[in-house]
Amino acid sequence: MAAEGEKAEGEALVGGMLNAGAVFRHGDLVERPAPRTARALHAHLLALAEHGFDAAPRPVGLTADGRERLTFIPGDVALPPYPGWVMTETALRSVGNLLRRLHDAGAAVEVDAGVEWPRSLADPEGGTMLCHNDVCPENVVFRDGRAVALIDFDLAAPGRAVWDVAMTARYWVPLLDPVSAAALHPRGLDAPARLRILADGYGLTPPERAELPDVIEQATAACRAFVAGRVADGDPVYTQALSERGGWQRWDRVQSWLAAHREVFAAALSD
Ligand SMILES: Nc1ncnc2c1ncn2[C@@H]1O[C@H](COP(=O)(O)OP(=O)(O)O)[C@@H](O)[C@H]1O
Ligand SMILES: [Mg+2]
Repeated sequence: MAAEGEKAEGEALVGGMLNAGAVFRHGDLVERPAPRTARALHAHLLALAEHGFDAAPRPVGLTADGRERLTFIPGDVALPPYPGWVMTETALRSVGNLLRRLHDAGAAVEVDAGVEWPRSLADPEGGTMLCHNDVCPENVVFRDGRAVALIDFDLAAPGRAVWDVAMTARYWVPLLDPVSAAALHPRGLDAPARLRILADGYGLTPPERAELPDVIEQATAACRAFVAGRVADGDPVYTQALSERGGWQRWDRVQSWLAAHREVFAAALSD
């Protein structure tokens, strides 16, 4: 019998934008719309688990009506405006470390080249490893102030490790001009210092550190194009978020700020 207050469809889980209103918890399981790549993704997640990466939901199955079932991962997931506990240096380092664990396991798992992985946030240079591509706070489960699991692999696609680090840095540093950052994040976050902490937590190599500032700008342009695509398609969630957060002017500001800080980031990463 459903617990008191729980409807037949389960407990609605909030936090996402792509599947807003369509993700439900039923006890130990989550049911959500299956991405087009669900079969390949489930096989990939099971292979990652075999290679020691257990910090992701375990796929349980697909329903006849196009939904997927995955294990629910207990813990805390932060929503915007982001609370202080999710933006600590310990949290940031742990996110870098968790992404590295994903990539270490992923390096040993062959990506199914026959699958049309989503291009939305994919590395334009491609790669042999499956990147998550969307490691935002809403997609990371925490316990005791540390990242313990990555969820929502819907936008995963082959790419370079440094691309996934750049995407992750955008959200977690965050790589936003001070006005944009103040709208969503605690005050006083030192972006260059935090970029360094994330890179150290990940264990980024010197050549990847040298590339990172450029890749961050490429990844930001890819995210902007993704939002533009959703808005052009009339997606109400993205359209509203864009207007609430300051429209295209905000993206212009972020991109100018990134370009102006290229050298500061390069220095912070290499010192
Ligand atoms: N397997 C899971 N374990 C724990 N929490 C989950 C899980 N799946 C989803 N959630 C919660 O539900 C929210 C929305 O789910 P998500 O699948 O990320 O939706 P979207 O695709 O819209 O981003 C997440 O931010 C998280 O809080
Ligand atoms: Mg999500």
